[in-house]
Amino acid sequence: MTLYLNINGEDRAFHGDAMTPLVDVLREGMLLTGAKAVCREGFCGACTVQVDGIPMPSCLLPAGLAVGRAIVSIEGIGEEGELTPLQRALEDHDVVQCGMCFPGMVMTLTPFLAANPNPSRDEIKQAMVGNICRCTGYERIIDAVLSMQAQKETAA
Ligand code: FES
Ligand code: FES
Repeated sequence: MTLYLNINGEDRAFHGDAMTPLVDVLREGMLLTGAKAVCREGFCGACTVQVDGIPMPSCLLPAGLAVGRAIVSIEGIGEEGELTPLQRALEDHDVVQCGMCFPGMVMTLTPFLAANPNPSRDEIKQAMVGNICRCTGYERIIDAVLSMQAQKETAA
């Protein structure tokens, strides 16, 4: 079966079973390996992509149900070859260690910050509840997000 999926603004053909999890379509079918398949049960958030602007675990979304939706993976955000301000802040705070959680974290926090550009510490914690990081203890991630606000205030 051939399915046409809109991925990062391009229509891409996937030849395979409509029940194939989207994370496998991205990683194996499209060679977009940013989304990580870790738990495959919807718990860890490492496979998060945006579906019509909403962060979702791509391990739980069959390819057939992704047809007609706008899928954005970590490879599709920001300018090509450039880090987004969020990615830069996370890097500056040494959040990227093993790196397994990082793409999913960015895909969750990006729409959250677009909707809520000045979140409190607790709101950031709530936003990340579906993204597990085994390396950082989360505080540096929260500090990185808060540092973006501080930078904006300094620039204003
Ligand atoms: S691999 Fe999808 S949520 Fe963990
Ligand atoms: S940096 Fe290793 S799981 Fe988050």
